[in-house]
Amino acid sequence: MNSDKKNEIDRIRTSGDNEVAAYLEVASSKEVDPVHLDVPNSPETIIVIDYGSQYSMLITRRIRESNIYSELVPWDIDFKQINHLNIKGFILSGGPDSVASAGAPTLPDFVINSKLPVLGICYGMQLLAQSLGGEVLSSSSSEYGHSMLSIDEDCPLFTNLPANFSVWMSHGDSVKALPHNFILNASSDSAPIAVMSDQQNQYYGIQFHPEVIHTEHGSEILNNFTVNIAGCSQNWTAASFVDEAVEAIKAEVGQKQVICALSGGVDSAVAATLVHKAIGDQLTCIFVNNGLLRKDEANRVIETFNNNIGIKLLDINATKEFLDKLSGITDPESKRMIIGEAFIRVFEKKAKELGEIDFIVQGTTYPDVIESETKGSTSAKIKTHHNVGGLPEDMQFSLIEPLRNLFKDEVRAVGTELGLPDEIVHRQPFPGPGLAIRIMGEVTEEKLDILRSSDWVVMDEIKKADVYYDLWQSFAILTNNRTVGVQGDQRTYGYCIAIRCVAADDAMTADWARLPNDLLAKISSRIVNEVPEVNRVVYDITSKPPGTIEWE
Ligand code: XMP
Repeated sequence: MNSDKKNEIDRIRTSGDNEVAAYLEVASSKEVDPVHLDVPNSPETIIVIDYGSQYSMLITRRIRESNIYSELVPWDIDFKQINHLNIKGFILSGGPDSVASAGAPTLPDFVINSKLPVLGICYGMQLLAQSLGGEVLSSSSSEYGHSMLSIDEDCPLFTNLPANFSVWMSHGDSVKALPHNFILNASSDSAPIAVMSDQQNQYYGIQFHPEVIHTEHGSEILNNFTVNIAGCSQNWTAASFVDEAVEAIKAEVGQKQVICALSGGVDSAVAATLVHKAIGDQLTCIFVNNGLLRKDEANRVIETFNNNIGIKLLDINATKEFLDKLSGITDPESKRMIIGEAFIRVFEKKAKELGEIDFIVQGTTYPDVIESETKGSTSAKIKTHHNVGGLPEDMQFSLIEPLRNLFKDEVRAVGTELGLPDEIVHRQPFPGPGLAIRIMGEVTEEKLDILRSSDWVVMDEIKKADVYYDLWQSFAILTNNRTVGVQGDQRTYGYCIAIRCVAADDAMTADWARLPNDLLAKISSRIVNEVPEVNRVVYDITSKPPGTIEWE
């Protein structure tokens, strides 16, 4: 992959909270073994083995939604990597391959050897059938979409479900002959063997996808497997996670010292608060004010963490240092590089003053882990535009990543459980380079003031209209254009502010938000009235793709 292409992909994956983590990751890119916080009393776990289906992660999500812990692992994983878990059953995901084709992913021996319940979904069912002596028919045509399932035999997977319901199919191959000891439980028009089971050994195969919402009763089917068949007790909650993580952190850290760079974003905030709950003042957080934050932001972070939560927080106002380095710089990627480099230097200096430090906390979350594990490369998560010089050789930390097994919404639930305010837990993402990439062209004090005041109005009105939490992001951009206007009786030549409000499930794609005209009118008139340098406000009506969310 050429580096431009890679850069593009990294940018798409970027979220505000990853920023500080990325700096530190680059900084600590010397081969230091990450500390995997294996929970001493591991929760009951369902392992989902990934055969490459686009829905694999969704299976994990659905199971976790029912308060059962689940991990998605690559099909060729070494069992040593998961044998610390309290595994109650396996789910084999779907996948794009044909079981008969050369080099197709196989069933790891540990699945059958474990004697635990197994549910094969689509490719997973075919693999189970083939591995246990059944026959799979390859087909060049495929079935894709809704299908009516008719249940023939009582099967614990369908406890309390009707005899017929609609399921979502997406497959080419199908099971032609049942393996020894299996019985047929259900069929559909195009899949005579749509569900099979060997109830004595607790092996189940289903041709359809229970994890997608198009399958009726999908969650109940998964629950029947995880609860009734595998015997999980549905006690994995934010509270139980906090208890277990606190114990694990205490055990790992002992009496040693830990640091954490706090960005104000949700991931680093929750990670720091969790570690603080475990080890109190052995944790020192460092908050670098780069002068590129929004109005009042630095104060709010300091107030929340220092005063409300009582975390030992070193706040460093490095505004001058950052702005001096950005003087005369207009290229967006150069801005990012300079800000990243400056951050490392400030952080390094402060960390050195603290003396011996053993661990550094990072707010890495599960999607990052899956991305790096299943795609086989940790470098995929490091934004190349942050590829700055690392910390010196004599500064070595081990990583503590207490959120590495959590999805974003789970991180939020843990944050709430820990007592963090909604303002932090449900905060919209904010990019690490901050306002520098929302000011087109050179960043100056004057422009920062204009943007801060305009952005304040956007935030204020969006919050008053009660849409802040519905939007992925909502903010102002200071364009590099001046336009002619009339203000009072005077001809003016002022700045043009752009408003960007987007709805999204993640930052990969986004749609511009259809905000009420009255709200836009209010924002526009307040900005031109309250910020004298601005005489024009425009609304960005570009989706992503083709536009990115940020303008630079
Ligand atoms: P784009 O503009 O690429 O943004 O559509 C996707 C998401 O990433 C954020 N973003 C960044 N976050 N450092 C960050 O920490 C960056 O350099 C950066 N660039 C974009 C952006 O705010 C959005 O949430």
